[in-house]
Amino acid sequence: MNSDRAITRGSNAVGVPPVGAPSADVVAAIRGVSKVYSLGGHQVKALDNVSIDFRQGDFVAIMGSSGSGKSTLLNVLGCLDRPTAGQYYLAGQDVAVMDDETLSRVRGRYLGFIFQSYNLIQQLSVVENIEVPLSYQRPPMPGGRERCLKLAELVGLSGRLGHRPTELSGGQQQRVAIARALVNNPHVILADEPTGNLDTATSHDIMNLLDALNQAGRTIVMVTHENDIAERARRIVRLRDGRIESVADVRPALLSTR
Ligand SMILES: Nc1ncnc2c1ncn2[C@@H]1O[C@H](COP(=O)(O)OP(=O)(O)O)[C@@H](O)[C@H]1O
Ligand SMILES: [Mg+2]
Repeated sequence: MNSDRAITRGSNAVGVPPVGAPSADVVAAIRGVSKVYSLGGHQVKALDNVSIDFRQGDFVAIMGSSGSGKSTLLNVLGCLDRPTAGQYYLAGQDVAVMDDETLSRVRGRYLGFIFQSYNLIQQLSVVENIEVPLSYQRPPMPGGRERCLKLAELVGLSGRLGHRPTELSGGQQQRVAIARALVNNPHVILADEPTGNLDTATSHDIMNLLDALNQAGRTIVMVTHENDIAERARRIVRLRDGRIESVADVRPALLSTR
């Protein structure tokens, strides 16, 4: 790592934002969030008083050893898990006060997900997999199929539209998953080890794609345990025992807005 990077240490040194709703360019804000799991009378603090802002156009790599809370943080950000304490503001709104319907609408509108194991539906073709999130939309998005074809082209899969996941390489499957994550035009992409199953060259192809999406103004939060992958982000956040150990700037934040 370069020595000229700004590094702050300790969860309270990371610029804990003031109490209250975040400013307009902050798409996701975590304020004093803790997550405690109870397991057979034993309590595990997966997140311990974590505060961090994600601005529009940010590209953050979350690192840390196994069990440090990376997936828990991503699950809280993805509204897949509710914090035990603290607040989560998504697009300026406190997630805790949303009813289920509002939450699923806000989730669908603001968030796209990419997973290590791609999570494609094996019976569906490339274009049908990309379409999956649209099937939850009421009313259906006009021109949905055309949008999926454009996204397949964007990720370089125009020639594979009718293929099923088993007929694709790992890198191609992850491209399908990225196109699927983009279909609702989300503000934030959450990726849990998106290159974890890929070889080095393919991993960097996928990172080029994520980089292009970020350059276009999309916010990306990505868990990885690979240094060379994390270095492709703008900031690296290290977790340790559920707390933020450090935040390092890799590249300046994107200034333009999408
Ligand atoms: N559903 C759960 N029930 C109980 N403990 C959990 C659960 N999910 C995670 N944990 C615990 O919380 C801690 C953080 O887990 P996790 O966020 O998955 O870490 P990481 O993704 O960094 O490996 C670990 O000690 C883990 O065992
Ligand atoms: Mg994990």
